[in-house]
Amino acid sequence: MDMRRAKAVLLAASLFVSGVYAYVWPSPYDFLEDAYTVSARFGGGGIVPGVDPCGVSPFGFLPGRQAASEWLRLAYHDMATYNIETGLGGLDASIGFETTRAQNIGTAMNTSLVFFGAFQSKTSSMSDVMALGVILAMKNCGGPSIPFRAGRIDAVTGGPETVPEPQQDLEMHTAAFALQGFNVTEMIGLVACGHTIGGVHQVDFPLSVQNATSAQNPEGVVHFDDSFDSFDNHIATQWIDGTSTDPLAVGFNDTTNSDARIFAADGNTTMRAFAWDPEFFSSQCGSLLERMLNTVPNTVQLSEVIDPLPVKPYQLQLSLATNGSLIMSGYIRIFGTSAEAAAASETDMPVTLSWKDRNGQSNTTYSTSALAVSQPSTSLWGNVRFFQVDAIIESQSGISSFVVDWAFNSQDTLTHSDNGGGGFPLQDVALFQADNSCVTPASQANPTTTVFAVIRTDLGPITSAYIDYSSNVNQEGSVTVKQVAARFPLVHFGNSSSPLYDTYSVSFPTGETTNQGVITFDVVAVITGKTYASANNLAITTPC
Ligand code: HEM
Ligand SMILES: *[C@@H]1O[C@H](CO)[C@@H](O)[C@H](O)[C@H]1NC(C)=O
Ligand SMILES: *[C@@H]1O[C@H](CO)[C@@H](O)[C@H](O)[C@H]1NC(C)=O
Ligand SMILES: *[C@@H]1O[C@H](CO)[C@@H](O)[C@H](O)[C@H]1NC(C)=O
Ligand SMILES: *[C@@H]1O[C@H](CO)[C@@H](O)[C@H](O)[C@H]1NC(C)=O
Ligand SMILES: *[C@@H]1O[C@H](CO)[C@@H](O)[C@H](O)[C@H]1NC(C)=O
Ligand SMILES: *[C@@H]1O[C@H](CO)[C@@H](O)[C@H](O)[C@H]1NC(C)=O
Ligand SMILES: *[C@@H]1O[C@H](CO)[C@@H](O)[C@H](O)[C@H]1NC(C)=O
Ligand SMILES: *[C@@H]1O[C@H](CO)[C@@H](O)[C@H](O)[C@H]1NC(C)=O
Repeated sequence: MDMRRAKAVLLAASLFVSGVYAYVWPSPYDFLEDAYTVSARFGGGGIVPGVDPCGVSPFGFLPGRQAASEWLRLAYHDMATYNIETGLGGLDASIGFETTRAQNIGTAMNTSLVFFGAFQSKTSSMSDVMALGVILAMKNCGGPSIPFRAGRIDAVTGGPETVPEPQQDLEMHTAAFALQGFNVTEMIGLVACGHTIGGVHQVDFPLSVQNATSAQNPEGVVHFDDSFDSFDNHIATQWIDGTSTDPLAVGFNDTTNSDARIFAADGNTTMRAFAWDPEFFSSQCGSLLERMLNTVPNTVQLSEVIDPLPVKPYQLQLSLATNGSLIMSGYIRIFGTSAEAAAASETDMPVTLSWKDRNGQSNTTYSTSALAVSQPSTSLWGNVRFFQVDAIIESQSGISSFVVDWAFNSQDTLTHSDNGGGGFPLQDVALFQADNSCVTPASQANPTTTVFAVIRTDLGPITSAYIDYSSNVNQEGSVTVKQVAARFPLVHFGNSSSPLYDTYSVSFPTGETTNQGVITFDVVAVITGKTYASANNLAITTPC
């Protein structure tokens, strides 16, 4: 390594230490980062398929409808409860409790919330999923790349009725946006950025749209511009050149032509700038929508911007085999944005994982190569591939962390990825054992979950061992669920296949059956004051 490289590496290391690059694995935001980074195929986060392609509503094949625009309207209406004077409201999923209000008319809000509900978990609030959904949807529609921060907290009741409505006058709209934290220029921008996709439904706004329903368009949607399925500046070009078809700008009912009043609020200056320069439109929309999504109650502290990690473990876990060895299984994800990343052939990518034993020692034998998962996955931000790990680790020596050495091409020098310096930590003390763990069917009265775990016995007395279980309960008046936490002590069950581990188990109520929400649990052991956890295991589905 030459001196400049060495200095750069040192600088990077000190930046990491000082916390500038904060995201290391594992993180409470791993689930959201996965969903942000991987669109579809292996490891796909599942959100992007809900809005791909941009112009339709792929889930349920709802004719005439557009999920991407429905998600954006949902997020704006949720945010519109913000009050800059009190610092309350904002993007907090209060919209779940507000769907029966005239301001939020339509079935779309619940459709979107039900879709997002599949991604609600202990580490992903509904409001974070909603923000992420908008970011992915806008990108997939050709819109700006909006930075994603997490950490939003869901409200448990509705907020004030402050969503603007089209029959209100400009003065009211100006005041409403000011209370949401946006001045007149920003109001024009935010409305234009919102109304560049989607349209108005006759079934919900018969005073603004008429004679639009048909077999292909049962809800009578009339689009805001001629490219409703593309996040472009046509909403502005058509307004300026007099060819607008926006039913809220040139509709038959002047009273509800709120877009006309708003677009002209500064003598068309902002709209003219948008029409002249598509780049300007896109970048303004990027920063306005970012601000919209990051408008949160003043008690919420958002995370650093979450960018795709170049190298990240996925579903990586350690378990005890029946012959007393440890098995490390799961995947390593490699992400890149370079031309080389795009051109790489996964079968020609060397990916080697090297670990340190439980005493922090390396050994040339502590190494395994990971094999490409057949087809690359898709991403809106770059190129992503997964590599499967399947390694035997001797229980006695164990594991404490690992590093990954890899390249996009077998001819390249390897990149050494060490998770920001400390390696990727992996504890070998408290392990979830999928074998024997099971769940009684939900159809049965009082369904129960049984978890088996093994805990290392050679580190001193086990002070406590338990399962931290995160499940969901339905909420009155909203299709969204609320996460509830419960702790169940693990009970000593007996020996195991290894003299170094004992088996523990517990059965507990699986909890309310909800239509939404992800169930996760942590296996935790406290030994001589130190806590070891196998965190965020997904709900057991194996039937008892
Ligand atoms: C004065 C402010 C606003 C008024 C009066 C207003 C009014 C409306 C109305 C009446 C509709 C038709 C809804 C339907 O038929 O389902 C609509 C749709 C929509 N609005 Fe707004 N809006 C405003 C601001 C915004 C903002 C700031 C955004 C986002 C940044 C936004 C995003 C959308 C989107 C994406 C749709 C299309 C929904 C779909 O295609 O299903 N709106 N708006
Ligand atoms: C609104 O705020 C932006 C950004 O601070 C500023 O550039 C713009 O001039 C303001 N517009 C009005 C009408 O105050
Ligand atoms: C236009 O909209 C207003 C307010 O929603 C309504 O009162 C009025 O009847 C509508 N006019 C027409 C011609 O439909
Ligand atoms: C809708 O059709 C009816 C009947 O043909 C007509 O009277 C009405 O003016 C139409 N509405 C609009 C907005 O074109
Ligand atoms: C703004 O643009 C609209 C639509 O092109 C036009 O009708 C209106 O006269 C313009 N207003 C001003 C103040 O330029
Ligand atoms: C233990 O079992 C695993 C998988 O079940 C196997 O791959 C490994 O070779 C076995 N180890 C020994 C020492 O037999
Ligand atoms: C590496 O592991 C092998 C096999 O367990 C062992 O014989 C050897 O002593 C170890 N080397 C070091 C440097 O620890
Ligand atoms: C949305 O779902 C909630 C909860 O089931 C329900 O109370 C509400 O009426 C629904 N909203 C609409 C518009 O159907
Ligand atoms: C575990 O305990 C059972 C019953 O006490 C005994 O038969 C078995 O040999 C033990 N297994 C191991 C691996 O020690």
